[in-house]
Amino acid sequence: MNLRIVALDERLDRSGFACGEEALDRYFRERVSQDVKRRVASCFVALGKTAVAGFYTLACAGIPVVDLPEALARRLPRYPTLPAIRIGRLAVALAFQGQGIGGVLLVDAMRRALRTEVAGFTLVVDAKSERAASFYEHHGFMRLASRPGTLFLPLATAQKALTP
Ligand SMILES: CC(C)(COP(=O)(O)OP(=O)(O)OC[C@H]1O[C@@H](n2cnc3c(N)ncnc32)[C@H](O)[C@@H]1OP(=O)(O)O)[C@@H](O)C(=O)NCCC(=O)NCCS
Repeated sequence: MNLRIVALDERLDRSGFACGEEALDRYFRERVSQDVKRRVASCFVALGKTAVAGFYTLACAGIPVVDLPEALARRLPRYPTLPAIRIGRLAVALAFQGQGIGGVLLVDAMRRALRTEVAGFTLVVDAKSERAASFYEHHGFMRLASRPGTLFLPLATAQKALTP
């Protein structure tokens, strides 16, 4: 499929976006450009030929070091909170689901997180449902033991996976 993933342009017509999760639809239709303007999220949009196929948001975040698995925490400085990059929301429009676009959006998020000049050692996401959590697990994210609805993927792991 011919997809372009670009930073959200607020002139884009988002009114028809539907992914099956009303809260995500409302967020994308009504709130995301405000969040971008206020610098609380960046938003990237997958554009099909005539419609928005999907979107995701990124923002800076922190993970308490005590929430990380001991084996990983041991290799990191003992700061109380370690820098992360959060995928705030991610959704694929119903008409485009099941075609690999969710995976393409995740890879795009990994690449952008690896490219940014602001450090974050991991991607992190708060899954909105068990279904969403298993989607992220399928793509290599791991659950935080203390908060199983929160999943993370170290960017060193992403980098290895993306390096040919
Ligand atoms: C979850 C969602 C983003 C998946 O997007 P998608 O484009 O339909 O998924 P893809 O076609 O990219 O699936 C990629 C892979 O993930 C797998 N997958 C998809 N949903 C899955 C799930 N719920 N559990 C486990 N694996 C899943 C697919 O089998 C596929 O595997 P493969 O690459 O080995 O063939 C999409 O269904 C969606 O937007 N749902 C509503 C909103 C939502 O729940 N967002 C979650 C983040 S908050």
